[in-house]
This record gives sequence, structure tokens and C-alpha cells, in this order.
Amino acid sequence: MVAQHAAWSSRFAFIMAAVGSAVGLGNVWKFPYMAGSGGGAAFVLVYLGCVLLVGVPILVAELMLGRRGGRDPVSTMATLGAQHSGSAAWGLVGGAGVVTALFVLSFYSVIAGWALAYVPKALLGGFAGADGAATQATFGALLGNPLALLGWHTAFMAMTVFVVAGGVRGGVERASTWLMPALFAMLLVLVGYGMVAGDFARGAAYLLQPDFSKIDGGVVLAAAGQAFFSLSIGLGTMLAYGSYLPAGVSIPRTSVVIALCDTACAVLAGLAVFPIVFAFGLDPSEGPGLVFVTLPVAFGQMPAGALFGAVFFALLVVAALTSAVSLLEPVVAWGTGRHGGSRGAWCLGVGTVAWALGFLTIFSFNLWAEVRPLGGERTVFDWIDYLTSSVMLPLGGVLLALFAGWLLPREVAAAEFGADDAALFRVWRFLVRVVAPLSVVGVLLDRLL
Ligand code: PHE
Repeated sequence: MVAQHAAWSSRFAFIMAAVGSAVGLGNVWKFPYMAGSGGGAAFVLVYLGCVLLVGVPILVAELMLGRRGGRDPVSTMATLGAQHSGSAAWGLVGGAGVVTALFVLSFYSVIAGWALAYVPKALLGGFAGADGAATQATFGALLGNPLALLGWHTAFMAMTVFVVAGGVRGGVERASTWLMPALFAMLLVLVGYGMVAGDFARGAAYLLQPDFSKIDGGVVLAAAGQAFFSLSIGLGTMLAYGSYLPAGVSIPRTSVVIALCDTACAVLAGLAVFPIVFAFGLDPSEGPGLVFVTLPVAFGQMPAGALFGAVFFALLVVAALTSAVSLLEPVVAWGTGRHGGSRGAWCLGVGTVAWALGFLTIFSFNLWAEVRPLGGERTVFDWIDYLTSSVMLPLGGVLLALFAGWLLPREVAAAEFGADDAALFRVWRFLVRVVAPLSVVGVLLDRLL
């Protein structure tokens, strides 16, 4: 318990942990396929707007409330709510976040399992000389095998539980201070490969030259949801991390650093994927398998690609691990903070629940591939993804923004913001009070009604 609420050792350690949370599968796996399904540059443009005008302000709000409350997400919101609005019901926002985190973790671990499976596959030359059809067959075979998916999912979830429970957290974060830059460098190399061997001109144009007619409510909601998911906001992760944040650290500056690293990784991943998509006749709107069928083509063709591919997927697993840890953390913090009991037991219990929920995702890609609950096009996995990323995260984020903007007294917010820049503070306050709530509620209503 003491360790749980010890502050981060330094500003740097905190930034690494928060960047570790933000950068993960959302950047390398999800961003490219969401962009591909959303029509390319139109999606990217809306996404960047969402990060800047909605995501960063809410990230600031969440870290601010977290540091102010200093406890688990539920207690923090209940306490702040009682203090500043007379109602502890704000704890429900933290509670909804805890439930959402469980569901996100459940599918996150399954997808991270795909990356884990690809480490030995790459190393053993499984992609040598492969073209798009071959990598699609390889990926299809993995998806079609629920037992294999279960095995890799179990392995990844066990690693997550071990890291959060085993107190090796600091070690993982220290290790990721050089592993994350390594992943970044790998992405750069893959972009370079795309320039030489892919159809870079077409890939880059696809990602960067928007066709405005493609922007509709669906694209805006998907892009907004992706911004929340990628920045790890709206479900209490940053509330939990903010509670460990030392007083002297500038929240706005930290938030900008997190958003810059996160966005750079996503854009690089897109620039790595799409030149290969077009050069090898793959489909940009392929869906969740996109990176798993494109990047292996590159690894199969480049010199030392087996080693390179294995290292890449291993780094992706590490990036996913630092994010998964940040999904488990708020739930465990709530459990031990609210109900007592050992951290280890909570990690194991919560990990088991998320692991079991993972079955829903696993079966969506094989046994239930044709199942469409509620009609329409969405599989069970698509529903979990949609309800978490596009509904729960934006709603949670907006409620936190409204709280920070309207209920938290101005002086308190200013003190947490660090009032060295009064103009910037005014801009932030306008964004969380008006712009973020109106835009998110607007698109949600547009889609749901
Ligand atoms: N931001 C992480 C990613 O992009 C996922 C995540 C979402 C982590 C929400 C924590 C909370 O991979």
C-alpha cells in the first residue's frame, strides 16, 4: 500500500510510464487499420484534430484530477465530487472506468498474443519470401486456431499480472526507456523499407491527402474514439497515474510530450504499413489483421528479415505490456484501496476476470466469426471495441473534462496547471468546458440517434 502510493521517482520516470501507457497496440496495430477502414487521410486529419482539441485537454484534466485526489480512480472522483459538487456519485465515473478497463484489457491481451505468436514465427523464417497472399494465409491460420490464440493470450495476461503484482514494474519501465526508442527506430527503418521497396508515393498520399467527402459522423466518432484509446484517457488510467505524480511536474508540458510521442508512433506505423499495402495488392480496409499481414511481407523480403521481424514483434509486445499494465493498474488500485486485501491477490483475481472475458474476443475470430449480435456488421469483438473505444472512453473523458472545467474551482485548477502561462490556461479551460464536451456529445448523439 505504501509502495502503491509512493510518488514517481522523477519527472522522467513518470513521463516514461505515461508514454509507455499511451504507446502500444493502439499505435502500431489499431491506428493503421482504423485509418484504412476510415478512408485514409480523412480519418488521419480528424484524428489529429481530436488529439489536439479534445485529447490533450482531457489528458491534462485527468492527470490534474488524479494528482488532486491522490487515490484510486473511484475514491478520487468520489472525494473530489463530494468536495466540489456535494455529490460522491462522481465516483461512478471512476467505477465505469474500472469496468471499461477490464473489457479493454480482455481484448488487448488477445491482440498482444498475436504479436507474441509472431516472434517465434518470424525468427524461424516463417515469412521468408512471403507475398501478401502467403502472409494472409499465415495470419488466417493463427486466427482459425482458438487453442493457439488462447495459449498466447494466457501467456501475455500472465506477464501483465506478474509485472503489476511482482513489483518489477519499475524494472519494466526502466527497460522501456530504451526499448521504446528501439521500437521507434524500428518503425523508422520500416518506413525506409517502404520508401525503397513499397509504393511509398501512394501510401503516403493515401495517409496524408484527405478526401474531405469521406468525412462523416462515423469517421469522426471512430477517430475520436481512437484518440481516446491511443492517449489512454477516459477510463481512469491517467487518474491512477496522476495520483503518483510529484507536485513539481508540469502537467500541460507532460501531456504535450505524451501526445507528441504517441502521435509520432501512430503516423510512422501508418507510413510503414500503407506503402506495403499498395505495393503488394493488399486491401487497406482489411481490418484488425492489417499490420499482421503487411509488415511480415517486408520482413520476408529484407535482408536479415527473420531476426528483424522477431525483434520488431518482441518490441511491440513490450510496448503492449507497458499499456496493459496501465489498464490493470486502476482496477487493482480501486480493489486494494476500496476493499483492502493484498495487491498480488487483486492482480491475480482481476487478471483472471479479464482473461476469461478474452474468450469473447478469441471466439469472434473463429467459432463465432459469423455471429452478429444485434444484426448489422459487428462481431462480438467489434461490439466490445466499439462500446469501449467509441462510447465509454469518450463519455468518461467528457465527464472528467466537465468536472475539471466546471466544478473544480478555478484557483485549484490553475494551481495544478501551473499558472506560469495564464493565456494557455484560459485556452485549456475553454477547451475542457466547451469544445470537448460539445464535440464529443455532438458526434455521439449524431451516431446513436
Ligand atoms: N493507449 C494504449 C495503446 O494505444 C491502450 C490503452 C488504452 C492503455 C486505455 C490504457 C488505457 O495501445
